[in-house]
Amino acid sequence: MLSPIIEEALNNQIAVEAQSSQVYLSMASWAEVLGFEGVAQFMYAHSDEERMHMLKLVKFVNERGGHAKVSALEAPPKEFGSFKEMFQELFNHEVKVSACINDLIDICLQQKDYATHNFLQWYVSEQIEEEALARNILDKIKLIGDDKGGFYLFDNDIKQLITADTTQQP
Ligand code: FEO
Repeated sequence: MLSPIIEEALNNQIAVEAQSSQVYLSMASWAEVLGFEGVAQFMYAHSDEERMHMLKLVKFVNERGGHAKVSALEAPPKEFGSFKEMFQELFNHEVKVSACINDLIDICLQQKDYATHNFLQWYVSEQIEEEALARNILDKIKLIGDDKGGFYLFDNDIKQLITADTTQQP
């Protein structure tokens, strides 16, 4: 059974994951409109992955006797400047999400909720991967600089980075 404090903290994380999915969906749409098919596919997949992170939490909260809440979301930006800025934003966003997971884990330890603590370890590993992936992409973009041909190849290559996670059910 979840304590009210843990239930509220998990519900906050549900909103964080849902907001992440919205932000990446907006990034996907922007890239698609600009004609960057690979970047768009990557962002659509990333948006789906965040929805999966959210659903996993929804199911956990309800299974443990709580009530997962669906809350209103902020409209994300519609445009992101350049791809470098967009991927920087993605990286910054993931760092913030990692901080939220760490706070949540602190609360679990304070509340002695070891079951939720155990469940959240999956998110800890996932955040390590997501930050590393975003950093890796940013490094590539920095190498490309203003080279249009390089960007064309990058748009093609990024499709390889779409993770298998998006096809998994929560
Ligand atoms: Fe679910 Fe990328 O944090």
